[in-house]
Amino acid sequence: MAKEGDNQGTVLIVDDEESIRDSLRMILEFEGYRVDEAVSGSSALARVAEGAPEAVLLDVKMPEMDGLEVLSAFRERGYEMPVLMISGHGDVRTAADATRRGAFDFFEKPLQRDKVLVGIRNAIDTYRLKSENRVARHEPDELIGASPALEGLRATIAKAAPTPATVLVRGESGTGKELVARAIHRLSPRRDRSFVQVNCAAIPDELIESELFGHEKGSFTGASRKQTGKFVAAHGGTIFLDEVGDMSARTQAKVLRALQYGEVEPVGAAKSIKVDVRVVAATHRDLEQEIEDGTFREDLFYRLNVVPVRTPALREHLEDLPILVDYFVNRYAETSNYKPKTFTQSAIDHLKTLPWKGNVRELKNLVERLLILAPNDEISKEDIFALTGGAKAEISESLLALKTLREFREHSEKLFLLHQLELHGWNVTQTAQSIETPRSNLYKKMDQYAISRDDG
Ligand SMILES: Nc1ncnc2c1ncn2[C@@H]1O[C@H](COP(=O)(O)OP(=O)(O)OP(=O)(O)O)[C@@H](O)[C@H]1O
Ligand SMILES: [Mg+2]
Repeated sequence: MAKEGDNQGTVLIVDDEESIRDSLRMILEFEGYRVDEAVSGSSALARVAEGAPEAVLLDVKMPEMDGLEVLSAFRERGYEMPVLMISGHGDVRTAADATRRGAFDFFEKPLQRDKVLVGIRNAIDTYRLKSENRVARHEPDELIGASPALEGLRATIAKAAPTPATVLVRGESGTGKELVARAIHRLSPRRDRSFVQVNCAAIPDELIESELFGHEKGSFTGASRKQTGKFVAAHGGTIFLDEVGDMSARTQAKVLRALQYGEVEPVGAAKSIKVDVRVVAATHRDLEQEIEDGTFREDLFYRLNVVPVRTPALREHLEDLPILVDYFVNRYAETSNYKPKTFTQSAIDHLKTLPWKGNVRELKNLVERLLILAPNDEISKEDIFALTGGAKAEISESLLALKTLREFREHSEKLFLLHQLELHGWNVTQTAQSIETPRSNLYKKMDQYAISRDDG
């Protein structure tokens, strides 16, 4: 039994039957949940507007607005908490419909106490993990910028999103192609369904077919289980084919077929499956050149490029740079508890002169490093020099390839130590004193990162 004061989670019960509400409340409160109730769909919406719970138990059959409508209304308003539906016995059709609309779980009456408790626990744990990840990845969900280039991009997104048309997003690395793909899904009528992302460059060629289209059990060595492909998983929703320029000829042929006929053929399956999927693709590659070289199919290009969207390079909208810096400073302050810092005018002016080959991603990484490494609350041009000059510029380039926070920490630690050692003429004793660490520790770190004078 839960101890008093435990926060197991907050649950909203929506049911027009008082006896059901009462018994659910008793079960949940006994386990340490905080419980709120609503007697109808419209009062549930009002409750959620005052503060969203971490899970909703929602009755399907209610007068006025039924449970499925309430579920859709939540999603339309952007509430993403898990919803667990309650229905009458044997109502398989509704169960399928609810799952398709994004319900987390489904219970039949009469309710079984243990099933409900396990379902709620899973729902809240998953939800908490998801929101933590979202925060930890610092992924902004909106495109920032007020320049004509960004306004134009937004206008194109707004026009394309409501249609079922295939969109091809092109632009340099780090310009927000993934943000565009997500925005298109979010602004489309499919927003309540899944958004399935496939990074075509990251999946080995021999696996990509079964990743995209699925496979039958035993269809090839190692296929010990049946696998659902991403196209089927995206049914009713959007599939995002990222780095689409990196697909092999064979995969291109299969994707083309999926787009032409709206059906996919799992590896080793006798029959193909009809799918209803909206396709958004992205690449930083020059597809026209690849077509000329014979490495990308022209017919696939035209299928994908129904609505072309181009994300501008940062150097084409430098007027947005101050807003972006501000945005990332605040964002890191919120998500990582970094102390917010300000930038001097000359620091901003200097940033505008950098080449920005890594575009907004590079700017974002630089802001993070400055928040960690710059010694004062106000960041000057010199602080930026210290991080971007000479040999260290290469390190800044390679930062773009880092994946985990740990890699980033190690990288920035190495960078910092290099900088400090240089500053103190490679005098280890002085450097150690200045950065307030034992000399033995500094030696250990230099060893760990293979830092020697040549690196400077
Ligand atoms: N206009 C923008 N506003 C806010 N953040 C942005 C913007 N453009 C890019 N970013 C951020 O920069 C990073 C890179 O963006 P994204 O992953 O969408 O780039 P990409 O174009 O897909 O790059 P790649 O070709 O390398 O995959 C992300 O953290 C993203 O949130
Ligand atoms: Mg990308």
